[in-house]
Amino acid sequence: MQTLLKLLSNGEFHSGEALGRALGVSRSAVWKKLQQLQLETGIEIHKVRGRGYKLPNPIVLLNEPWLTERHDAAGWDIRVYNAIDSTNAEAMRLIAQALKLPLLVVSEQQTAGRGRRGRKWVSPFAENLYYSLALRIEGGMKQLEGLSLLVGLAVVKMLQEMGISGAGLKWPNDILVGRKKLAGILLELTGDPADVCHVVIGIGINVNMRSSEEVDQSWTSMALESGVDQDRNQVVARLSAVLNRYLTSYYAKGFKAFKDEWEQHHLWQNEPVTLLAGQSAINGVVVGVDDAGGLRLMVGQDVQVFSGGELSLRLRGQPGS
Ligand code: ATP
Ligand code: BTN
Repeated sequence: MQTLLKLLSNGEFHSGEALGRALGVSRSAVWKKLQQLQLETGIEIHKVRGRGYKLPNPIVLLNEPWLTERHDAAGWDIRVYNAIDSTNAEAMRLIAQALKLPLLVVSEQQTAGRGRRGRKWVSPFAENLYYSLALRIEGGMKQLEGLSLLVGLAVVKMLQEMGISGAGLKWPNDILVGRKKLAGILLELTGDPADVCHVVIGIGINVNMRSSEEVDQSWTSMALESGVDQDRNQVVARLSAVLNRYLTSYYAKGFKAFKDEWEQHHLWQNEPVTLLAGQSAINGVVVGVDDAGGLRLMVGQDVQVFSGGELSLRLRGQPGS
């Protein structure tokens, strides 16, 4: 399937005969493989009598040898999949096999991509980045304070380096351009909370997605923001380089060293907001974050700190924000 996709990836017409020759199969076998490919990837393959088959647009696939070489230098192993349920789920399974870490999992698509609080992350084939980094953490979960905020900051930095300047953060770790979501982060933990544990840093970035009937909130992508398609291999390499840099400094100094920088990129700094916590809603004004990544809100006359994965922030007085 991979070979057929590679042949078609230039977006040009390929006759059934030429495809058959390249794959060493008959024309009817080519037809079957094309149908299977369409089913597996969701990509509609165009067929024109007398000219052959083509993809609607050219695509650049993830390049496993190139990515492996780039990550070797940092001592990270990498697995590249054509399809997986969720790169986070796969990273968790690989942790259970006691493989060498850090280990990065990326995939062309996710069939059950997950967002926060059991929500779905829309993950079409070869359009976006689905990235999960598995790490071993010594000294218990206390070492992970503020990590998800730090990862958000690293994503914003990577986007800036790649020319997407308008991206900012929404506490705890959404990456938005204006009110539109460009990337999301999901950390998953396993192991002994007080001793050796493992964390999977899951990052979903909309890279070349230009339309979607599935995403049910306001969203954008790197391509929509920059006007050009991006090579996802470059995005992976750049993200890993920035993340590695930020993680090294985070291990040494903790999140508190990044607090100011994080607040500078917080889109809702000093804004009136409502914090949703289950059924309750707390109105306040964003003061910033604390050393552990908790949200500091001015509620009435007091500054209160909020943390935990079940919290959601909304701008006050702006429906749908
Ligand atoms: P919060 O609850 O913190 O305010 P949120 O509304 O973005 O943030 P999350 O749980 O962080 O909710 O993210 C999951 C949501 O993201 C999904 O419910 C869906 O609306 C949206 N979503 C799913 N896939 C994508 C995607 N590829 N790009 C942008 N948004 C997506
Ligand atoms: C959110 O904003 O709700 C978090 C979305 C996280 C999506 C990424 S895509 C890679 C990794 N694998 C998953 O199943 N989820 C995360």
